[in-house]
Amino acid sequence: MDLFQPVFKQYKKRHPFPDLKDVIDFKNAKQLTQEIERFSLKDPALPQLVGLHPVKEWKAYTLNKHPGLYIILNPFESGFECYWVSQCLDKYSQKPNITNLDAHIERTEDLSIWNDFVKLNRTEITKDDLLWKLRWTTLGYHYNWDTKEYSDHFTPFPADLSFLAAYIAAVLGYPQFSAEAGIVNYYHMDSTLAGHTDHSEFDHDAPLISISFGQEAIFLIGGVTKETEPSAIFLRHGDICVMAGASRLAYHAVPKIIHSDTRPLPTEFPSWLSDHMSCVTPANHTCSFSEEGCLATALTDQTCSCGSKGCLNMCTDMSLKEINKDIIKTLLELDRNAFDIYLKSSRINVNIRQVFKPGQTFPNKR
Ligand code: OGA
Ligand code: MN
Repeated sequence: MDLFQPVFKQYKKRHPFPDLKDVIDFKNAKQLTQEIERFSLKDPALPQLVGLHPVKEWKAYTLNKHPGLYIILNPFESGFECYWVSQCLDKYSQKPNITNLDAHIERTEDLSIWNDFVKLNRTEITKDDLLWKLRWTTLGYHYNWDTKEYSDHFTPFPADLSFLAAYIAAVLGYPQFSAEAGIVNYYHMDSTLAGHTDHSEFDHDAPLISISFGQEAIFLIGGVTKETEPSAIFLRHGDICVMAGASRLAYHAVPKIIHSDTRPLPTEFPSWLSDHMSCVTPANHTCSFSEEGCLATALTDQTCSCGSKGCLNMCTDMSLKEINKDIIKTLLELDRNAFDIYLKSSRINVNIRQVFKPGQTFPNKR
């Protein structure tokens, strides 16, 4: 008997608006019952991307009814979510990545759907905007929506998102995770995502990592068949949902997007953003630590001599250092207004998958 679809339909309803009293709200500690448990995370002691709170401050939960499902409440420092939103709307939707628009229009190498929208300086997004029509982007190994298979068409997976995913996976005890495919879903307020499983990957031992931004979603998580009654949970701006273990192949869906007063950017960025800025500019670099010393201060959570909380020079990995600089630079240059306009009626979900078993590659599949 299908116990999934009736719940999907119940939450999808517009009139009357569904009763949300059974939707699990991890942010509301009072709701913590025997069914919901705090999950202790492992600090991977890895150099990390800027804009993430220290792991000891992250709050993660599991549900007894859905082993292998992990919810991490927004671990981003205030305002830093917007870097990822910006990447989803701008960088990731550019060539060579693939979007739903490619079936209808020829995208040039330099087309930025986002910048074209920003330049219009509008107060609303309308149905005629290309940005409105952007519904999905695929990254890495591109997913074929018709055959429901990954093709051997591969474009480099974004390095920043790969670092973020690997860090999240490591925190949950999956240090070998390799981000190989990504799907960015762009939702309007009336969008839904029907119940499905994600089984096209060849490695089902690796977790599936999903990060949400913008307006909040009701997310349904069921079992490996539709005969399990799903649980409904809220996924909000910055929240991370991970499906692993017994929930890796579970049915899931998004029956509803709900208006919240999510503001993606604080009016003032943390003051240390400018500290970091001086630290990443070699000419102004006032830090007396060697790179290793700086790394040590970051890992022990001390304040670096340059005044920064975890100096950007902490990282001996050049590419991570470049990414961290880029995060700060992007945030300083953001058009806040355009993000406000987009996100007040949209949700973005980034879904990151490891496709292959370790050592396996195309066409050596299965
Ligand atoms: C998906 C998916 C969930 C979400 O893209 O496969 O399940 O929260 N997305 O949008
Ligand atoms: Mn899915």
